Amino acid sequence: MTMFRADLLKGKRILVTGGGTGLGKEMADEFAKLGAELYICGRRGSVLQETANEISKTRNVKVTALECDIRVPDAVEDVMTRIFNEGPLDGLVNNAAGNFISRTKDLSPNAFNAIANIVFHGTFYMTLAAGKRWIEKKHKANVISILTTWVWNGGPFTVPSAMSKAGLNVMTKSLAVEWAPHGIRLNAIAPGPFPTKGAWERLNPGNMRGSAMGSETDSSAGNPMGRVGEMIELRNLATFLMADGCDFLTGETIAIDGAGFLAGGGNFSQLAKLGDTDWENIRNMIKSTNEKDRAKRSV
Ligand code: HXC
Ligand code: NAP
Repeated sequence: MTMFRADLLKGKRILVTGGGTGLGKEMADEFAKLGAELYICGRRGSVLQETANEISKTRNVKVTALECDIRVPDAVEDVMTRIFNEGPLDGLVNNAAGNFISRTKDLSPNAFNAIANIVFHGTFYMTLAAGKRWIEKKHKANVISILTTWVWNGGPFTVPSAMSKAGLNVMTKSLAVEWAPHGIRLNAIAPGPFPTKGAWERLNPGNMRGSAMGSETDSSAGNPMGRVGEMIELRNLATFLMADGCDFLTGETIAIDGAGFLAGGGNFSQLAKLGDTDWENIRNMIKSTNEKDRAKRSV
């Protein structure tokens, strides 16, 4: 159910990182539906362009697809310069991320960096590139970062993601204070399981029953509501945080997880029961997903 009036975000210019797929695409589409002009960025140009075409056609607003690897500071600067040359952004959604399940003992430094460079470094580069322009232009603005509930209780078997997202939780709180005098607010969303191809292929390969992720067809999501999240629920929360009208709200990370975290769940602690062969199979399934996605990237 849509909760908001049809033109709520009219006049706003919003960048959603990783907006070509999954939750980023959902939020971008909702903002466009409510009248915002959109920018979406990611590494797979064809995926982005397809999403931009789809949203601009259905919602009748301008959506610009920008190929950008947020791990590369110069690429982030270029994209931000290009956007601000067309006019200041009003909102940034830090949604792009990388993740996969693995026993931590099996990770190489390179594997750790593959996640941390996207989530921890890349998200900071984006936030800095937007923030310094907002401060210079004295432009009121809004940042939403997409985290996870394991920023509070840890993320066994997803340690590089958990460490990186926890850092972003602290970034949100720190910059909420530092940038409040500049009219910039920063909040974060910690979603429970919301089924997407990108996350499920890397965190629930082979649809392991009993995983914290659950699936659309069973009730194993491991939260007291016994279900996964519905995209409209996430769309509405993101809109509430992005819209004007509750500007005193900043520095908060809001869970939307059916009380999964409060009930002691939301992470992958139950994977401790898996053995060597299980992990070998999981790794192979994830690597095949990564290879297929990489084939579509030019950056
Ligand atoms: C152990 C692995 C591995 C695995 C890769 N590696 N998969 N190690 N187990 N399953 C290692 C590789 O061997 C390599 O190390 C290093 O990681 C880099 O792997 P590449 O495949 O070369 O990396 P790259 O092409 O840069 O891909 C980055 C990626 C990929 C993060 C690994 O998955 C990606 O681009 N993902 C983007 C989309 C995504 O992840 N979406 C899901 C978000 S969901 P060596 O040492 O061999 O060189 C999410 C939270 C959901 O974040 C929360 C739910 C509750
Ligand atoms: P997804 O579809 O795989 O989204 C990840 C997006 O990030 C992709 O569009 C990807 O595009 C982009 N991306 C990755 N690396 C990038 C880079 N270096 N530069 C630019 N863009 C990059 O998965 P999702 O489930 O929607 O996840 C979206 C966000 O929600 C993530 O922050 C995730 O941690 C969070 N989250 C998801 C869930 C869930 O249940 N789905 C739960 C909690 C939190 P390219 O590969 O084309 O670059």
